[in-house]
Amino acid sequence: MNVCVIGTGYVGLVTGTCLAYLGHEVVCVDNDPQKIARLEAGKSPIYEPGLEALLEHGMSRGALTFSMGLTEAVRAAEVIFIAVGTPPLPSGEPDLQYVEAVARGIGAAVDDARTRVVVNKSTVPIGSGNWVEMLIEDGMTVSHPLPAGTGALKAPAPQRPRFLVASNPEFLREGSAIGDTLFPDRIVIGATDSEAVSTLRGLYAPLLDQSFEAPRVSPRPEGMRSVPLVTTDLASAEMIKYAANAFLATKISFINEMANLCEKVGADVTQVAKGIGLDTRIGNRFLNAGAGWGGSCFGKDVSALISIGREYQYEMEILRATVSVNHHQRQRLIQKLQEALKILKGKTIGILGLAFKPDTDDLRDAPALDVAQQLLKMGARVKTYDPIAMSHCRQQHPDLEMVYAENIEELAAGCDALVLMTEWEEFKTMDLTIVRGLMRTPVLLDARNALSPMACQNYGFHYMGVGR
Ligand SMILES: NC(=O)c1ccc[n+]([C@@H]2O[C@H](COP(=O)([O-])OP(=O)(O)OC[C@H]3O[C@@H](n4cnc5c(N)ncnc54)[C@H](O)[C@@H]3O)[C@@H](O)[C@H]2O)c1
Repeated sequence: MNVCVIGTGYVGLVTGTCLAYLGHEVVCVDNDPQKIARLEAGKSPIYEPGLEALLEHGMSRGALTFSMGLTEAVRAAEVIFIAVGTPPLPSGEPDLQYVEAVARGIGAAVDDARTRVVVNKSTVPIGSGNWVEMLIEDGMTVSHPLPAGTGALKAPAPQRPRFLVASNPEFLREGSAIGDTLFPDRIVIGATDSEAVSTLRGLYAPLLDQSFEAPRVSPRPEGMRSVPLVTTDLASAEMIKYAANAFLATKISFINEMANLCEKVGADVTQVAKGIGLDTRIGNRFLNAGAGWGGSCFGKDVSALISIGREYQYEMEILRATVSVNHHQRQRLIQKLQEALKILKGKTIGILGLAFKPDTDDLRDAPALDVAQQLLKMGARVKTYDPIAMSHCRQQHPDLEMVYAENIEELAAGCDALVLMTEWEEFKTMDLTIVRGLMRTPVLLDARNALSPMACQNYGFHYMGVGR
């Protein structure tokens, strides 16, 4: 099928690249000229394992192209994905200006009477499917004024384009986005029109029946034979995305709350997590106590759900607590450093890892940045090292006056404490003897419970984890 993906960020670029891998003809559109230039040169603007290999695969066959021209790409497409950002506004509501601009642009672009499916992959508030439909209609009205006596989007006048809007929420995780896209737990399609569902079922057929050959960069999980398809109405699909993220964020806040109590009563939260995680009703994932959740989605989606609740005079009490526990979890790290070092002013603290999780360069709502900011405010000297995210950090946060180290050793030199904020593999296997020897005082705050407390203590560290 001819596919157009608008927005080449973490979601759009991975979606477009994987659809091209599955055999579709894909044009990825973005209005950022630097991104498009980089992509046309075969370079990914984001760090995502396996992505550049698949980009190369798609581009070399001519199945994957990049463009700034929304109009031509929309005209040629049977399926159009909207995958632009929906960042949070200060009020907690998502900023829908990019979705709005794209939806109007789609409506205005088309000059024939074909039917196209517009798929919303951006995470948008409940009801946005209908809103997008309205905006496309507005866009069309500019380019194709209605003849007298005709009206609705789905009952087109002759020669008018026809758009069917669907919601197809995205569940990929940065760092494992290729595998999550090619081997998802489920595909959700929300639509009011059965024709839209059947088009998307066709588009996703190779994924649903897992009939494609898995790429070398992302082998098929053992035993995976098919993917469940969940078809719903528009509002339910939009709600599924928010509910999934809210549940996962709550699970993390839950285990962090347990961790804080474990510290008081002398229990070990990693053992507690194992003990409860083996219960299949609970499951063992998202039960790692630590610095709390971050990233581009959890905070924004939980806040959006709270504000949607308020629009309907409903207080989302569990979600408010989820946010509050997460906020305190970051504060707790500062308190732990204070307990160990007493005065932070004038001390040198080394931060191991900036990205909100390993295997990504994404710094949006990264706990490490919050901790760094607070330490700087308190008069500490902050050094940092991250294997991938440092150049993004320099560009995006020029105000953070941190010293950037080239490697772990350079970071550790002269530090009064190290804080492990991102569990990169490199940190889990670092040479503790060398690190210990370079530090001024051997305080190690393992904010991800990524290291063995016993090993760290044996190497002479004053080790602090979370809830253990
Ligand atoms: N990042 C994730 O892990 C993830 C996971 C699931 C869902 N989502 C959702 O997917 C959506 C996209 O997220 P992302 O992380 O990929 O965002 P992103 O910020 O990385 O990318 C968005 C892209 O859209 C482009 N863009 C903005 N306006 C445009 C326009 N008018 N025309 C063309 N391009 C335009 C931007 O230049 C940018 O490249 C969001 O709604 C997000 O909540 C993200």
